Amino acid sequence: MDDATTAGSRPGAGGQPGARGAHDDLVAALPKAELHLHIEGTLEPEMAVELATRNGVAIPYPSAEALRRAYVFEDLQSFLDVYYTGCSVLVTDDDFYDLTMAYLRRARSQNVRHVEMYFDPQSHTTRGIPLATVVEGISRALADGRDELGMSSGLILSFLRHLSAEEAAATLDDALAYRDAFVAVGLDSSEVGNPPEKFRDVFARARQAGLQAVAHAGEEGPPSYIVQALDILGVRRVDHGVRCMEDGALVERLVAEQVPLTVCPISNVKLRVFPSLAEHNVLAMLRRGLCVTVNSDDPAYFGGYVEENYRALQAALGATDGDLVQLARNSFTASFLEEGARSEYLADLDEVARRFGVL
Ligand code: HPA
Ligand code: ZN
Repeated sequence: MDDATTAGSRPGAGGQPGARGAHDDLVAALPKAELHLHIEGTLEPEMAVELATRNGVAIPYPSAEALRRAYVFEDLQSFLDVYYTGCSVLVTDDDFYDLTMAYLRRARSQNVRHVEMYFDPQSHTTRGIPLATVVEGISRALADGRDELGMSSGLILSFLRHLSAEEAAATLDDALAYRDAFVAVGLDSSEVGNPPEKFRDVFARARQAGLQAVAHAGEEGPPSYIVQALDILGVRRVDHGVRCMEDGALVERLVAEQVPLTVCPISNVKLRVFPSLAEHNVLAMLRRGLCVTVNSDDPAYFGGYVEENYRALQAALGATDGDLVQLARNSFTASFLEEGARSEYLADLDEVARRFGVL
């Protein structure tokens, strides 16, 4: 499998082949998959200002620095208010292409080899942007990411749970015209008060169309939302899921069924799900046998891409090399990759783990 990041991921200058070099670094070297990433959440302030100018859209901040300074959040809703304002600068298919390509390049530089990416169609269609514009711009970038960067990818169509079930159903109807562009449907936005069961019918229809299902649950919402996501929506993976640890029976089930949980540590601290990284439960979840993965969620808003999230676990929680290898391994086993590609990535990962003496 190709490797465009050899500089950062091989033994450092003077290192012996097969030996761990002075400048080598396990986090950078590990092949990783990102499974919880909102493409709209990768809009860096500089690009937001550039696109606002390009499209003649007014944003209530005079500069990229002012925008970045505004990224202090009380909770999920206070973040979403800023995030939806940010979406307003995305107008043309080139905007969606540029946004997606910038993320892919950055992720690839961190040795992210596969990404399953959300987009929120309703954040755009409600502003009069055609669904075709959004899907074509993102899909064109994902195709170039495959050709130019050797990155595999899947696109997840996410319903905004603060809007009605009928609006989600209409969104699915429109999106089925592009069925082959998607690997799954998802559910995001304001969690509390918008339980998974509200979207029972639209998820059933999406699964009948052959799409996988995932949902945000147990970020701010209670463990019962995780149970609903599994039993009512038929999800294969739960996004966040950190509040599962409040329900012992649920934890046992998630361990027994190895349901993947796409945890986003820096996001959780920025949105005050946990007071600090040192108090985050991700390593406790991992040690309990849960299939945990580490992801960035909305990296431009929270100040960390995948690599920074892995490093945060080393720095604040003392994650061991073995933990980091397990998290990277889980990111591929929890993905919707087909078996052949999954095995190739895992073989690459094993080779790196051996080089670092972790296997
Ligand atoms: N949670 C819910 N909705 C979202 C998020 C999130 O972390 N990011 C973008 N939409
Ligand atoms: Zn999310």
